[in-house]
Amino acid sequence: MSQTPTHRVAISDDLEVGAYLEVAEVQSADGEKPDSRLEARDARRVDRDAVAVIDFGSQYSQLIARRVREHHVYCELIPHDAPRARLEALKPKGFILSGGPASVYAEDAPLISKDVLDSGKPILGICYGMQALAYQLGGEVEPSSRREYGPAVLHVGDPAAAIFHGLPTDFSVWMSHGDVVRRLPPGFRSAATSDNSPAAAMWNGDGLIGLQFHPEVVHTSYGSQLIGNFLKDVCGCTGNWTTASFVDETIASIRSQVGEGRVICALSGGVDSAVVAALVHRAVGDQLTCIFVDNGLLRAGEPARVVETFERHLGMQLIHVDAADSFLGRLAGVTDPEEKRRIVGDEFIRIFAQQARKLGHIDFLAQGTLYPDVIESTSHDTASAASRIKTHHNVGLPENLPFRLVEPLRYLFKDEVREVGAALGLPEEIVWRHPFPGPGLSIRVLGPITQERLETLRAADAIVMDEVRAAGLYRQLWQSFAVLTPVRTVGVMGDYRTYGNVVAVRMVSSQDAMTADWARVPYELLARLSSRIVNEVPDVNRVVYDITSKPPGTIEWE
Ligand code: XMP
Repeated sequence: MSQTPTHRVAISDDLEVGAYLEVAEVQSADGEKPDSRLEARDARRVDRDAVAVIDFGSQYSQLIARRVREHHVYCELIPHDAPRARLEALKPKGFILSGGPASVYAEDAPLISKDVLDSGKPILGICYGMQALAYQLGGEVEPSSRREYGPAVLHVGDPAAAIFHGLPTDFSVWMSHGDVVRRLPPGFRSAATSDNSPAAAMWNGDGLIGLQFHPEVVHTSYGSQLIGNFLKDVCGCTGNWTTASFVDETIASIRSQVGEGRVICALSGGVDSAVVAALVHRAVGDQLTCIFVDNGLLRAGEPARVVETFERHLGMQLIHVDAADSFLGRLAGVTDPEEKRRIVGDEFIRIFAQQARKLGHIDFLAQGTLYPDVIESTSHDTASAASRIKTHHNVGLPENLPFRLVEPLRYLFKDEVREVGAALGLPEEIVWRHPFPGPGLSIRVLGPITQERLETLRAADAIVMDEVRAAGLYRQLWQSFAVLTPVRTVGVMGDYRTYGNVVAVRMVSSQDAMTADWARVPYELLARLSSRIVNEVPDVNRVVYDITSKPPGTIEWE
């Protein structure tokens, strides 16, 4: 593996397991492409309202999709040049055109397809989406003398426009554009203005609307209401895509996909694989067998918790493999972080495949792939994120795992997965668990890994978890953990000089792990952590707090 540590991102905390197995699956003998299976399943989901978010490459495209779903309207992010079949399968009641970095007059500017434009369905164009709508319907767009970036006050000129129903006449919005619509297309009128845009919103008196600003970002007041108005008042969506309807529909869909087949699922302890297992178990009961590979690199108490929850509490068939010795044996003396990753991945596959073979004939592999892992996007940001994810695929893979995939979370965002987990009755600890890397504590014991150093880290890490929870901060933080550094320092305890280990504490806030900031937690929490770790963990005499954001740092130290 040659990538640097910055080339890592994991949207699903089970991504790594998923990635190993997915590649294995793609290499499988059955020759059926994953996409064809997906379309077959998509076609079933016709009884809930949906809209299509057409992606022109905005950094906010995913945000639009999330905002739409907050109104219980299903949506998918669809590239602007996607084939018609993609739209037809979704059966959208309307379209939202995202923003994007292009200018409509640029040579290869992405345009709105005829399928969308001539559909007769409502269309909401946002920023570039509005400009493309104006341009393609016969209006004029031109570069503004001044790029408008940041807050602006919107003055609603046409309160009759359904998109402004129930909103005040003046409110603040977030602008981020160079070009502006100079002449409206025939049949359109300006519905709102801002200081720099005589047409900050345009409307054709019916279902075609353009907004120069970004309703999807939190800086736009009433942004969610604007989107809700479009979905409900303009498109006529009823908001019938709920957690309960998702669960019912997904269970039915898993049953029809799996039939009498047998399914295996790799449990990692994370929320995604837990929710997948719970859904599949509800759908097909004991046709599902879960495999939990304890690699000896998990947090304190984690293996027992997984067994307790899934076997005893949820009554699933669970194979618990204690493979700590084989993982630690292969990791002995290894210091290079990417080599650690490769070994953990390789060993995981070896053991998983071995267990699967023992079970006899298996038809399906259920895994917790999430929507952001699979979005094909025109966006620079998300496209480059996708290429970063590939780091996880660089592992040695067996060629004989002939499974077909069951991926019930493939269209969900992380927060939606948590809601489903809660609805399925999974314990809070699992539903809200922080992301945990596939290579586990191997990349948090810096340098060579020994059983003893793992125990030291586990003890310190358990205190971090404990105190973060006690301070009521667990849900607010993206991740919090301890790192065992290879540094030793001098200290004094009682009357004795000590020469011990340094533990670093990392607590970060983040939306998606692409960027992160060190958490400004109360000093009192830091003080408690430091005093407890030094007092309770043998051989640790110093605690430091990591105040590096990402970038330039990464979340993990290795
Ligand atoms: P970094 O350290 O790159 O981490 O800022 C971003 C997110 O990814 C997790 N991470 C991993 N997850 N396998 C995983 O499954 C890995 O090798 C890996 N490395 C980092 C990290 O915990 C954070 O959530």
